[in-house]
Amino acid sequence: MDFKGQDILSTEQFSKEDILRILDVARTFEAVAEKRETSELLKGKVMASLFYEPSTRTRFSFETAMKRLGGQTITAVGQDYSSLSKGESLWDTAKMVEAYADVIVVRHPAEGSAAEMARGSNVPVLNGGDGPGQHPTQALLDMYTLMKEQGNIDGLTVMMSGDLKYGRTVHSLCMLLRHFDVKMIFSSPDELKMPVSYLDDLRGRGVAFEECSTLEEGLKKSDVVYATRVQGERFTDKEQYERLKLAFVLSKDLLKQCNEKITVMHPLPRVGEITTDVDSMKGAAYFRQAANGVQVRMALLALVLGKV
Ligand code: NCD
Repeated sequence: MDFKGQDILSTEQFSKEDILRILDVARTFEAVAEKRETSELLKGKVMASLFYEPSTRTRFSFETAMKRLGGQTITAVGQDYSSLSKGESLWDTAKMVEAYADVIVVRHPAEGSAAEMARGSNVPVLNGGDGPGQHPTQALLDMYTLMKEQGNIDGLTVMMSGDLKYGRTVHSLCMLLRHFDVKMIFSSPDELKMPVSYLDDLRGRGVAFEECSTLEEGLKKSDVVYATRVQGERFTDKEQYERLKLAFVLSKDLLKQCNEKITVMHPLPRVGEITTDVDSMKGAAYFRQAANGVQVRMALLALVLGKV
C-alpha cells in the first residue's frame, strides 16, 4: 500500500507486507522516541487530536510522536468542549479541521466514527479508537511489542483474555495476527466472547484458534497472554458489568503455576485484571508496550504524511 495520504481506520486494511513495513519504519524512530536523538522530520506539520472519549496513552503518545519529530499539535478533548456538543456532525468537523491541520487523530465512542470523519476530510484520518470497533494504531504497537519481546511472531501461541466482545484492541490485534503463522486462544466469560464476525474471518482463512472459558486452560499452552479490561462504559446492564469485571484476573501465583516464562501484555489501563505483584516478573511487558506507542505512531505519522 502507498501510505502517503492514507487514512488508518481499521487493521483489516493492512496486508502482511504493510504491517512489516510499518514495524520496520518504527524501528528507525526508536532512538528519537527514546530521547537519545532528535529529529525535525515533521517540522511545519500540524496534527489535530480530537479525543471525544477518555485517553491517556493514545493521545499522549501521538502528541509526543508529533512533537519529537518537530511537528505541532492542536487538541480537542471531550465532546462538551467542542462544537459536537452543539450538534455539529463529525463530517462537518472533519471538513473544517482539514483546513487547520495536516493529519487528524480521532477517538470517539461510536463505531464507524473515524470512517465518517475520513469521508469529510481530505487530510489523513487516523482512528484512535472508535467505540467497540477498532483501535488499529494500538494493534500495530502490540505487534511491535510482540516482535521485540519474543524476537518473532511466527510460531507463537497468543492468548487474549477478558472482554473480547467490546475490547477494540483485541478485535484489531487478531486482524493483524491472522497474517502470521500463529495460534490464537480466546479466553473469556461466555457473555464476553470474541464477536462471531472475527471468528468467521479466521475460520475462512484457516487460522488456528480456540476458545476457552478459564484462564488456566489457555495459559499453559501460550507464549503470550494479552489481558484486557472489561469495558464498563459499553455495558447497558451495570449488574452484569459488576459480575464480570473481575472474572479473569492474572496474578503472579497463577502465572507461576501455569507458565512462568509467558510474556504478559495489556493495552492499559488495568483496573485489577493483572495484580501488581506481576509487575516485577520478567515477562511483564505492559509498560514497555505503552512506551512502544511513540515510535509506532511516529512511523504512522511519517508514512501518511509522505515523509519516509
Ligand atoms: C484501550 C482503549 O482505549 O481501547 N486503551 C488504550 O488505548 N491503550 C484499552 C481500554 O481502554 O481498555
